[in-house]
Amino acid sequence: MSEPQAGIFVEGSSSHFFLEYKLVDGLSLEQLSDSVSKAVALSDAGVNRVWAFGADCWRSIAPAACPADLKPFAAIGEGRQVAPASQRGIFLWLHGDNHSANFDAAMTATAALAAVATLQLEKIGFLYKDSRDLTGFIDGTENPKGRGQQTVALIPEDEPGAGGSYVMSQQWVHNLRSFSALSQPEQEAVIGRTKPDSIELNDEAMPDNSHVSRSDVKINGVAQKLYRRSVPYGGVLEHGLYFLAFSADIRRFDHILQSMFGVSGDGVHDRLTDFSTPVSGSYWFAPSAAELFAIGSL
Ligand code: HEM
Repeated sequence: MSEPQAGIFVEGSSSHFFLEYKLVDGLSLEQLSDSVSKAVALSDAGVNRVWAFGADCWRSIAPAACPADLKPFAAIGEGRQVAPASQRGIFLWLHGDNHSANFDAAMTATAALAAVATLQLEKIGFLYKDSRDLTGFIDGTENPKGRGQQTVALIPEDEPGAGGSYVMSQQWVHNLRSFSALSQPEQEAVIGRTKPDSIELNDEAMPDNSHVSRSDVKINGVAQKLYRRSVPYGGVLEHGLYFLAFSADIRRFDHILQSMFGVSGDGVHDRLTDFSTPVSGSYWFAPSAAELFAIGSL
């Protein structure tokens, strides 16, 4: 059994750092592997860390351990409602309950990567109330539980990349002023669940453009399940959700995004996109622990 990076499955952290790095141009494979292997070897008590890599980066580091479908994120949608692409080379998610330790770990990792990668996107996330998005709705109700998390998230044994996971990240910027101007029943129609206790609206009350309607996608009868680990980020001036999800199959992300952005055939857009806007979009691969620590010797 290929062990995954343990930090993927640690839940309830109050402090999160999401770091996206762009690779320096013209690197040799040796330079890249050398710096990355030193950075991934760092560890700090109390800090969970998950490393993931863009398609081009991982394919050059470990071609034999690259899952077949890994690809860069491509923009989805048309007109005003577009999910843009901002694919970079390296992703690091640090989380835990010690914000000071997370900060130190973020600084150290960024210094360790400095010769090969530049930090281009940084979002500081936090647990808001009882795992709520800043809209006030509980986020994660339909997430898989127990062993189901690994089944949903991890590439099966005997496939290239076994024990690893496809990852999608997307920074969303909320317009809370416009969302708060809605009545509670209107807000619940946007999400598709009740606000206090996250109960799914019944069929008669569920609009076909609610977020639940657009994200609960079935393809040939198969539910497109993700293991979501998003948390809110930001402060008063800019805030939103850093969407982060893990999947054994990268196509599930495409199917759900196509449904949310009106390009899955019925032309319906997710009403949530009237109140929040994605400003980044990436696909990554989080290798198994063994493949991560073998970088440089693969
Ligand atoms: C501003 C961005 C987003 C917010 C605030 C948000 C919030 C929520 C909330 C409140 C729920 C209902 C509770 C739950 O089951 O977790 C939910 C469900 C869900 N969301 Fe999102 N979400 C966002 C973006 C996305 C994106 C980009 C995806 C996938 C590409 C996604 C996939 C899902 C899925 C699969 C469900 C469960 C649907 C079901 O089976 O009932 N969400 N989200």
